[in-house]
Amino acid sequence: MMMRNKSDFLRKNFRKTTKADIPRLFEIQDAGENFWTAERFSKEIHNDLSHNEVVLLNEIVVGFACLWILADTADLHNIFVAPNYRRRQIGSALMTHMEGLAREKQAMRLLLEVSSGNQPAQNLYNNFGFQAVGIRKKYYQSGDAILMEKSWKSV
Ligand SMILES: CC(C)(COP(=O)(O)OP(=O)(O)OC[C@H]1O[C@@H](n2cnc3c(N)ncnc32)[C@H](O)[C@@H]1OP(=O)(O)O)[C@@H](O)C(=O)NCCC(=O)NCCS
Repeated sequence: MMMRNKSDFLRKNFRKTTKADIPRLFEIQDAGENFWTAERFSKEIHNDLSHNEVVLLNEIVVGFACLWILADTADLHNIFVAPNYRRRQIGSALMTHMEGLAREKQAMRLLLEVSSGNQPAQNLYNNFGFQAVGIRKKYYQSGDAILMEKSWKSV
């Protein structure tokens, strides 16, 4: 029988991000160079192209993702999980949810950029079937960005 992680039994929910979530997102973002100001969160929430979702575990906000959908292409602009909730499949659940949104809105591919030094995120994306399609040299202060893509229908 497959062993289940304790967190499998906790209730995960997703909903749209609201202005009231911003202080909590600020507290948990810990995203290094991809740090967003309160203004940036606010701007995204008010942008119709931008889909901003929070994931809750037993009603506590533990993660966030921002996806832009423009015609057939969805672009993941941000994703993070609160440091003390990582490695409990929350990031994976969030990715599944965001990909679902992209599909629902008729996008056919999902693009993202990840720092070449960010192994946890690269592992997550590889698990999801993303492939490296390019490098943006010195995109981040700390190094290069890898451009990754997942497509589910030929365009
Ligand atoms: C990347 C991030 C969102 C992953 O969230 P998470 O909830 O810990 O991810 P999951 O528990 O769903 O992990 C899924 C897989 O990702 C990989 N992974 C996650 N954390 C890892 C780590 N610290 N080291 C190596 N691989 C890791 C593993 O393959 C893992 O599968 P496994 O647990 O079965 O081995 C989280 O580490 C984070 O918020 N990082 C800071 C922000 C960031 O870098 N965002 C990405 C910007 S491009």
